[in-house]
Amino acid sequence: MNYSLSYKNKAVIQPSALSMKFSEPAVDLNTFSIVRIDSSLHDETWETVWGEYSRIRDHHKELKLSLVDRNGSGILMNVIFRVFNEGLGFRYEFPQQDKLTHFVLADERSEFRLTGNHKTFWIPGDYDTNEFTYNTTSLSEIDASSSAMSQEIHAKTFFDKNAVQTPLMMKTAEGLYINIHEAALTNYPAMNLVLNKSDFTFTSHLVPDAVGNKAYLQAPAKTPWRTVIISDKATEILAANRMILNLNEPSKVEDPSFIQPQKYVGIWWEMHVGKSSWDYSGGQVGSQQQSRVPHGATTENTKRYIDFAAAHGLKGVLVEGWNTGWEDWFGKWKEDVFDFVTPYPDYDVNYLSNYAISKGVKIIMHHETSASVTNYERWMDTAYRFMNKHGMNAVKSGYVGRIIPRGEHHDGQWMIRHFERVAQKTAEYKISVNMHESVRLTGLHRTYPNWIASEAARGNEFNAWSSGNPPEHETILPFTRLMGGPMDYTPGIFQIKLDVYDPNKKEQVQTTLSKQLALYITMYSPVQMAADLPENYEKHIDAFQFIKDVAVDWDDTRILSAEPGDYVVIARKERGSPNWFIGAITDENSRATTGSLSFLDRGKKYVATIYRDAANAHWQNNPAAYTIEKFIVDSNTNLRLNLAPGGGAAVNIMPATTADTRSLKQYR
Ligand code: NOJ
Ligand code: CA
Repeated sequence: MNYSLSYKNKAVIQPSALSMKFSEPAVDLNTFSIVRIDSSLHDETWETVWGEYSRIRDHHKELKLSLVDRNGSGILMNVIFRVFNEGLGFRYEFPQQDKLTHFVLADERSEFRLTGNHKTFWIPGDYDTNEFTYNTTSLSEIDASSSAMSQEIHAKTFFDKNAVQTPLMMKTAEGLYINIHEAALTNYPAMNLVLNKSDFTFTSHLVPDAVGNKAYLQAPAKTPWRTVIISDKATEILAANRMILNLNEPSKVEDPSFIQPQKYVGIWWEMHVGKSSWDYSGGQVGSQQQSRVPHGATTENTKRYIDFAAAHGLKGVLVEGWNTGWEDWFGKWKEDVFDFVTPYPDYDVNYLSNYAISKGVKIIMHHETSASVTNYERWMDTAYRFMNKHGMNAVKSGYVGRIIPRGEHHDGQWMIRHFERVAQKTAEYKISVNMHESVRLTGLHRTYPNWIASEAARGNEFNAWSSGNPPEHETILPFTRLMGGPMDYTPGIFQIKLDVYDPNKKEQVQTTLSKQLALYITMYSPVQMAADLPENYEKHIDAFQFIKDVAVDWDDTRILSAEPGDYVVIARKERGSPNWFIGAITDENSRATTGSLSFLDRGKKYVATIYRDAANAHWQNNPAAYTIEKFIVDSNTNLRLNLAPGGGAAVNIMPATTADTRSLKQYR
């Protein structure tokens, strides 16, 4: 069985085989007879609970092939194709049938035979982590082994020098953009892709369990969708992340009113830069270096963050290191580490919960599981009840380390089921969850809108204690990791040089200050951290105003211009408000970009507040040089945004009052 795919009459995927191999019963499903063909047309528009758009149109044609194995097993399998203007999704289904009940999957072989040696933005295939920097090479130059080996990441599992992860972004010599990923990953392992360099064919490679099996299934069963998004415009690739959502099931959370998109601060960056520690005894900072610094999550310090959040209208305060266990959590592959309910003696959870509520702020719970998932599963109900009792309805979880049950991987079927169980169980307790070191997203936040974000890629934290994230990193992530859903990237670092914390620290965040503001728009997430320390915001309180004003939930999104690895310019309209925000970022090169404001209401005047790099700004030499200007703009305005090397610009556009139109200049 083969499929092929063309775009505007040009081949994009050449005939590519689809087959399945079981270990129990031992059958190879690769030759079929067609039992029946059904096709249908769908056109419906649905409303999001939160997101980049308030309404999304799902317009596709479906072809369902009902097949029977021709090799004699009599097993029935369906393949379903959905074709959208933006691309293709296909999945396998095993209907209820007499010949098949329980079965064990040895392999899924879905091929993607490309037409040439395309340019590719890739990270190495891995069973446990996605926290790599991106490589940009031709397909034939993919070398996952040297990329994986040169990057220090705890708990990585390399498996093939030609393997890469999805979402995989490619560009052909003719300027066609191709993105391969998957949608609705449940009860099945995540998919990596292994390249055959002789014919530029990627074949799916599912994450195995300890004995090498891929999935344990029972008919009726279905796989995730395999997706291919195509456009001759890079901007349309970013807009087509809606196709992934359309391939997911509608929300299963009946009353989503507890789910709150929000901005938050936290006792977090101060540990990553080594100013305070997670553990009570003061030895755990940064990427687990030993030192002697004060414990971060004290009652006093938490109060300070609550006061800061309340003073500036931010709704959440994340507190990491509040619970016992941090002395011995890292790298031990130990089962019992945290209990998620026992605070350190200097953290008064009762007092702080009440204090936060009295200030109109909520504490965000932190559950670092240290990847001891069996332990977390035992504690989940108790931990969520504890949160309910203390008025908390959001948790950030984490899976640093090698997984327990030992032999399982972060992206294998067992963990995929765990992540879904967490989404379901937190929903029962009316809790939103933001998972770090989880599997990369596949649009499941449509089905579980309380699974509000994930990290699942290399976040800003890497800038605190490693070789960091090169300036191009944030121009690639929207085309890769973010195609599947929101990322908790934790932007907003204003103290960019890190030698203020330690004179020996030569690393810095590879950014200008204005770019950190722009990331609130270009790096979509309904939960956005203001990640820096309150004292660093106090020093630039004028620039902090953008973070206070920026929305986290949107009616509409317009991708103004974009090129993977180079630049991204996005405008978004705040949900239920006439305000618009624009974020523009560049890689290590300075760049002059323009943004037409034709999306504004005709005939209306607005005030644009532009936060931009100063003329002499540069991510290395002069990262904090920024300028703030205000102008009157309208739908005829064409903004010119000059971005410094490693820089960016952020714009806040709000309806003008008569006083504004008198006192401010029209933008020219
Ligand atoms: C890794 C997470 O990404 C980070 O945000 C967190 O602070 C540490 N783990 C500790 O849980
Ligand atoms: Ca992480």
